[in-house]
Amino acid sequence: MHVISCLDYAEMSRKTARIIAALVQLKPHCVLGLATGSTPVGTYKELIRYHLEEDLDFSNVTTVNLDEYYGLGPEHEQSYRCFMQRNLFDHINIPPENTHVPDGLTRDVARTCAEYDNLVASLGGTDIQLVGIGDNGHIAFNEPNTVFVANTHLVDLDEDTIKANARFFASEGDVPRQAITMGMRSIFSAKLILLLASGPNKASAIARMIKGPIDPQLPASILQLHPNVVVIAVKEALALV
Ligand code: PGA
Repeated sequence: MHVISCLDYAEMSRKTARIIAALVQLKPHCVLGLATGSTPVGTYKELIRYHLEEDLDFSNVTTVNLDEYYGLGPEHEQSYRCFMQRNLFDHINIPPENTHVPDGLTRDVARTCAEYDNLVASLGGTDIQLVGIGDNGHIAFNEPNTVFVANTHLVDLDEDTIKANARFFASEGDVPRQAITMGMRSIFSAKLILLLASGPNKASAIARMIKGPIDPQLPASILQLHPNVVVIAVKEALALV
């Protein structure tokens, strides 16, 4: 794993966006794997700026997102589809049909999950996959577990995750208890994985991810097996590395 230490959130966002913008410019038909949460918001702001001020063209880009809350539809303001519209898609020229987020309202979970993995495979995998990391070491919604799960699947959210994400909802009781998440196979289809982290609360998970044993109790540790991972993190998040 290659690690880039940044002074602050703005630098992390600029560096990440610069890499993604370079890909979009050099490979207009690229496939971007995208993430939600607080961490990538600054990166998306920079990408919007590249589009508005420097004519970065997203018209041939395809995106696949990592996950979606189970039970939330695209109209729900805390759904990840809504997050992506608000923080990126509504502000760039990507065709709506090129953007993919798992269907949180599906009545046929097994089929939706299988189709999502087939979609990623049919696209040839992602060129860049952006991921955050949970305080508990999750990537996407692959929570600490006894095994690494390969396929896209329905997952029960960890208590830590529900607590961490309660800040976006009126109360902790409103946080969905389940989500549909990409599994490790589709995440690993990426030619390059950019893992972003900001904040001292991520320091323990980052240190265990980089130095610890590969252990499904720390799902991000499996990234040690991917040939091309770049960690772009604010220095507080690297304090224990
Ligand atoms: P955050 O979430 O960006 O809101 O910290 C990251 C994650 O849980 O994967």
